[in-house]
Amino acid sequence: MIAIYPGSFDPPTNGHLDLIERGSKMFEELAVAVLRNSEKHPMFTVGERVDMLKTLTSHLDNIRVAAFEGLMVEFAKSIGASCVLRGIRAVSDYEYELQMALMNRKIEPALETVFMLPAEKYSYVSSRLVREVAQHGGPVKGLVPELVEQAMLAKLDPAHKLRGLPRIVQPSRRKKKA
Ligand code: PNS
Repeated sequence: MIAIYPGSFDPPTNGHLDLIERGSKMFEELAVAVLRNSEKHPMFTVGERVDMLKTLTSHLDNIRVAAFEGLMVEFAKSIGASCVLRGIRAVSDYEYELQMALMNRKIEPALETVFMLPAEKYSYVSSRLVREVAQHGGPVKGLVPELVEQAMLAKLDPAHKLRGLPRIVQPSRRKKKA
């Protein structure tokens, strides 16, 4: 059975990765599908998110990663998926997920939604909060994969990548007295 795991993944978190690992054991093939244009001001471009997810799932041979736009059920149909995988972290997720699953079922009755629980240690982790913490200089270690952490730091502080390289000594800017 082919399943689709759709989402924004801006950025991919350890919760997402945990769910992908669980899904990869359950389905013959799992397509991680990144929605295009979900937000006006994303932290990462869709291409960057797809590339990160590809790298992060390269050890799993039944995972593929793609971007999609438009209705998720249409994309699911186009790749032959008969199941949608979504994660539920807490009761608070349930209402939104229920609404979405029922709407998707209304549009495409043959597509089933399966909910899985990520590991408890990630039950409070969301892309939005991770982004917010990082944007204010807080630590995101352990909440996102190392690769994502580095990419976030580089996004927020482009000089980050240069740290560790030998410093170029800047000439003094003080004006010489005449
Ligand atoms: O990670 P997210 O942002 O909670 O994922 C939401 C997503 C991408 C699964 C949902 O917004 C979606 O499927 N969007 C595609 C458009 C669509 O099919 N909308 C109807 C959903 S009921």
